[in-house]
Amino acid sequence: MSAYDQLLHEGYLVGRIGSGTFVSEGVPDDLLHPAPANVRMRSARRSNGAVRRHVGANRPGAASWSFPVVPFQGGLPALDLFPFAVWAKLIARQVRAETLEQLAYVDPAGLRALRIAIAEHLRASRAVRCTADQVLIVPGSQAALRLAGATLLAPNDRVAIEEPGYFGAHRALRAAGAQLVPVPVDAEGLDVAALQRRGPDIRAVYVTPSHQYPLGATMSATRRFALLDWAARNDAWILEDDYDSEFRYISRPVSALQGMDVHDRVIYMGTFSKAFFPALRLGYIVVPATLWSGFLESRFAFDLFTPTLYQRALAEYLKEGHFARHLRRMRSAYLERRDAVLRGLALHCADLVRVHNSDAGLHVTVMLRNDADDRGVAERLGRRGVAALALSNAYVGPGRRQGLLLGFGCAEPQRLLDATRILGDVLREPA
Ligand SMILES: Cc1ncc(COP(=O)(O)O)c(C=O)c1O
Repeated sequence: MSAYDQLLHEGYLVGRIGSGTFVSEGVPDDLLHPAPANVRMRSARRSNGAVRRHVGANRPGAASWSFPVVPFQGGLPALDLFPFAVWAKLIARQVRAETLEQLAYVDPAGLRALRIAIAEHLRASRAVRCTADQVLIVPGSQAALRLAGATLLAPNDRVAIEEPGYFGAHRALRAAGAQLVPVPVDAEGLDVAALQRRGPDIRAVYVTPSHQYPLGATMSATRRFALLDWAARNDAWILEDDYDSEFRYISRPVSALQGMDVHDRVIYMGTFSKAFFPALRLGYIVVPATLWSGFLESRFAFDLFTPTLYQRALAEYLKEGHFARHLRRMRSAYLERRDAVLRGLALHCADLVRVHNSDAGLHVTVMLRNDADDRGVAERLGRRGVAALALSNAYVGPGRRQGLLLGFGCAEPQRLLDATRILGDVLREPA
């Protein structure tokens, strides 16, 4: 039954009431079988010539940079449950054991032991097809996107993004000189038919298939295959941001899109910002073998390499099994925190908000009435010591829906419950 549930959830099966369960028509048979190696090589050779490098101009944004650790703050994990003692021991051990070589310059790709541990973790838990030779260590997903932009894009290249989507990706891609082309998302993730209508000259698409940011959809199997097919036919790149896939509450984690790609079109990126802590500034990018030298060159040009002390400590943390244990603990803590938010919303805001998605990740997305002002609400919440991100800020085009992203990672259940009461008060008071 749980295998059926998972396949239904991922869109491989469809259930028809009264007649049974069927394989989804959108899953093409030929794509389920890996293409022969010579097809992959041809596709790789074509794209190799298209690898271009560019360092774009940076445009500072107007957002606030402060991130107080308060209820509903977006993007923060449970810092209060951080395993300080183990981490401090590992750091101290690494500092004591430091050799002169470790204090000098090292490989821009990152520490080998960490790359091996990450490749193992991704193969086992995300079905990513990779070896350590395809893994580059970077200072987080933001850097991964900058690197992908610098390696693959030329100024004014058109890059499709999810609408609404992740502001950090918008910034990184704009900084690489890209023209952003918003494509709507619905309950199945990015609308690939709409992407196709945007024309053949789109160089890349940025997606969050496991947990769409910010609306929360999981990209269906049909859409995944359609997107991979679109990329192969258009010689375009897929930038897959798998930022918080470790945490799912209603089904098992959905595999990464990268693992389904037989044409080497996917550049996969992940981060330890959610699973561990953001100030670590450690993430990774998995690139097709054919793009490796281009990415390594950009990595070197960018900032030579990522500081090594945290890399060494993290490699030990993974190798000794602490990370897997930490994830298990965090999953149950987040489930409790998410449930506290849902309970609080039902209690204090039932007639004021509609819960849009709470299946995975570290935030619950709620919709407000269309005539509401989500930015104003977020501001008033801020004055009451509660954070929230306004959904309308996640759009680059017009037609912005009004809603809030309620982060539940960084506050205990009772504080989250109290925050839902404050949210109810704020929504009831005249603007
Ligand atoms: C969609 C998305 N990607 C990536 C990240 C994390 O970025 P980083 O690894 O740069 O900390 C976030 C953080 O909130 C996010 O929401």
